[in-house]
Amino acid sequence: MTPSSAVASLFFFCLLLLLLPAQHGASSHASYKLGSRQVFFKTPGRSPQASAVPTATSCSSIATGTGNKKLPVVHRQSPCSPLHGLPSLTAADVLRRDTSRIRRRFASQSSGVAAPASAPPPAATIIPVNGSSDSSTLPGELDYSVLVGYGTPEQQFPMFLDTTIGTTLIQCKPCASVYNCDPAFDTSRSSTFTHVLCGSPDCPTNCSGGSVCPFDNPNIPIEGTFAQDVLKLTPSTAVDDFRFVCMDVGPPPDLPEAGFLDLTRDLNSLPSRLSSPPGAFSYCLPQSPSSQGFLSLGGNATVRDDDNRTAHAPLVSNGDPELAIMYFIDVVGMSLGGEDLPIPPGTFGSNASTNLNVGTTFTMLAQDVYTPLRDAFRKQMSQYNRSSPGFAGFDTCFNFTGLQEISIPLVRFEFGNGESLLIDGDQMLYYDDPTTGPFTMACLAFTAFDDGGDVISAVIGTYTLASTEVVYDVAGGKVGFIPWSC
Ligand SMILES: *[C@@H]1O[C@H](CO)[C@@H](O)[C@H](O)[C@H]1NC(C)=O
Ligand SMILES: *[C@@H]1O[C@H](CO)[C@@H](O)[C@H](O)[C@H]1NC(C)=O
Ligand SMILES: *[C@@H]1O[C@H](CO)[C@@H](O)[C@H](O)[C@H]1NC(C)=O
Ligand SMILES: *[C@@H]1O[C@H](CO)[C@@H](O)[C@H](O)[C@H]1NC(C)=O
Ligand SMILES: *[C@@H]1O[C@H](CO)[C@@H](O)[C@H](O)[C@H]1NC(C)=O
Ligand SMILES: *[C@@H]1O[C@H](CO)[C@@H](O)[C@H](O)[C@H]1NC(C)=O
Ligand SMILES: *[C@@H]1O[C@H](CO)[C@@H](O)[C@H](O)[C@H]1NC(C)=O
Repeated sequence: MTPSSAVASLFFFCLLLLLLPAQHGASSHASYKLGSRQVFFKTPGRSPQASAVPTATSCSSIATGTGNKKLPVVHRQSPCSPLHGLPSLTAADVLRRDTSRIRRRFASQSSGVAAPASAPPPAATIIPVNGSSDSSTLPGELDYSVLVGYGTPEQQFPMFLDTTIGTTLIQCKPCASVYNCDPAFDTSRSSTFTHVLCGSPDCPTNCSGGSVCPFDNPNIPIEGTFAQDVLKLTPSTAVDDFRFVCMDVGPPPDLPEAGFLDLTRDLNSLPSRLSSPPGAFSYCLPQSPSSQGFLSLGGNATVRDDDNRTAHAPLVSNGDPELAIMYFIDVVGMSLGGEDLPIPPGTFGSNASTNLNVGTTFTMLAQDVYTPLRDAFRKQMSQYNRSSPGFAGFDTCFNFTGLQEISIPLVRFEFGNGESLLIDGDQMLYYDDPTTGPFTMACLAFTAFDDGGDVISAVIGTYTLASTEVVYDVAGGKVGFIPWSC
C-alpha cells in the first residue's frame, strides 16, 4: 500500500466509523473498505437498545412532505408508514413473492424465465381463509411506499412504487372484491374524477365506444377501468387528469394495500407526466425501516457528474413493446473481490438483459451468472465455516456469531461504458438479525432463476441498491448510482 493510499484508507476508515453508527442506529459494529473488500469489526460501543425509533418530529416531516417534488419514501415497517404494524415478511416470503412477480412480468416473453427449481407453489394459490386480508399470507405487498393524494378534496393513500406494470393501479370503492377494501379511493366523493371512455385517445384497450375503458392485460390478473383525476404529490405539486386504473377486483393475494404508482417509461407514468419529454426522476430507498428515503420527480434529476462517487450505467432499450416500458442497463460483466467472474460470453448480451426493478427485493440472476458468483464467494470466504444447507431461502450462509472481525469480498457490476458499481457489504449480505450487522447468521443476498437467460440475465432489486440514490436520466440515456444518499 502506498503512503497516499494508506492515508486515503485511514480517511475512509474514519469516515465510515463516523458514518456507520449513525446509519445503522444500533451500532455495535463498524466497517471500512480495503479495495474490493469490506472489513467489519465489533466495537465496544452501544447496545442495540440505543437504536432509536424516529421521533414524532421526523414523522411529521413525512406528513407534510419536504417540498419541491421530493416525496419521502418509507419502508412499510417504518413507524412513519401508514402501513406500520403489518407483520413483517420473512426473507423466504419475499423470495417467493419476487419470484412469482418476476415470473408473471416476464412470462409472456419466455417460457423458462424465473422459475426457481425449488419454487414453492405460486403465491396465487394462497387465499386468505376467511376473506380478510392477512399480510402474513399476502406476499404481494411491496416494501416501499409514498403517500399521495387523489381527487378533490384530496384523499391520501400510501402507494407502492412500481417499475414494471406500466400503469398506476389503485383500489376504488365500492370494491367488488371480497378482500380488503380499505384503504380505497372513494371516487364518488371527488368532484374532479372522470372515467376514460372507450375510443378516447386515453383508452389503450380495444373496446367498443361509449362505455368505460376496461383494463385488459393478460399478464396482470386484475379487473378495473381507466380513469382520471388530480394526483397531488406535495402541497404545491399536482398533476391534473392523471390517468390510472381503478381496480374493482384485486388479485388474490397480490392485492396491494392501496395501489401501485407507475414509475415506468410509459407516457402516462408519473415521471412522464411531470416533465415532458421524457421523464427524469430518482429515488433513494432507506436501508432500515427506521430511516426514510425519497422519491424526486420532475426537477433536474440529471445525473451529477461533479464528484467521483457516482457510477453511470448506459440505459438501453428493449424492443419488445411489453418490456419497452421497463428500465434496462448495459451490464457486461461482474467481479467479486476484484476477480472477474467466469460468466459465459453472451450471457450479458446487448439485448437489454439487466432489469432495474423497484418491485423486487433481492437481486435475481440467471443460473449462468449466479453459479460463478456463488462459487467465487464460497471460495473467497473459505476461511469461514459455511453453514449448510442454507438459511431463509439462501444457499450460501455463514454463522459469524462470536467472531470479532470478518472480511467480505465485494460484488462489482461492470457496465458497457467502462464504469462500474461496487456493492456495499451491507447490501450484499442478508442478516438474520439486522441489529447485529453481519455478526449473526449472514447469507449471500442474491438468488437464481432456474432457467433464465434468453430474455433477462439479472433483475437488480431494492436490497442491493438500498441507501443509493438511483437517478433515471432517460433523456441522457443513463442511470446514475450515488452511494450513501439516504
Ligand atoms: C380472519 O382471520 C384473521 C387472522 O386469522 C383473524 O384475525 C380475523 O379475526 C378473522 N376475521 C373474521 C371475520 O373471522
Ligand atoms: C379491435 O377490435 C375490432 C373488433 O373486434 C377488430 O376488428 C380489430 O382488429 C381490433 N384491433 C386490434 C388492434 O386488436
Ligand atoms: C433546473 O436547472 C436549471 C438550470 O440549471 C435551473 O434554472 C432550474 O431552476 C432548475 N429547475 C429545478 C426544478 O430545479
Ligand atoms: C475525480 O477523479 C479524477 C481522476 O481520477 C481526479 O482528477 C479528480 O480530482 C477527482 N475529483 C474529486 C472531486 O475527487
Ligand atoms: C439479441 O437477440 C437477437 C434476437 O433475439 C439475437 O439474434 C442476437 O444474437 C442477440 N444478441 C446478443 C448479443 O445476444
Ligand atoms: C470453524 O469450525 C471449527 C470446528 O468447529 C472451529 O475450530 C473453527 O474455529 C471455526 N472457524 C471459524 C472461522 O469460525
Ligand atoms: C449461530 O451460532 C451461535 C453460537 O454458536 C448460535 O447460538 C446460533 O443459534 C447460531 N445461529 C443459527 C441461526 O444457527
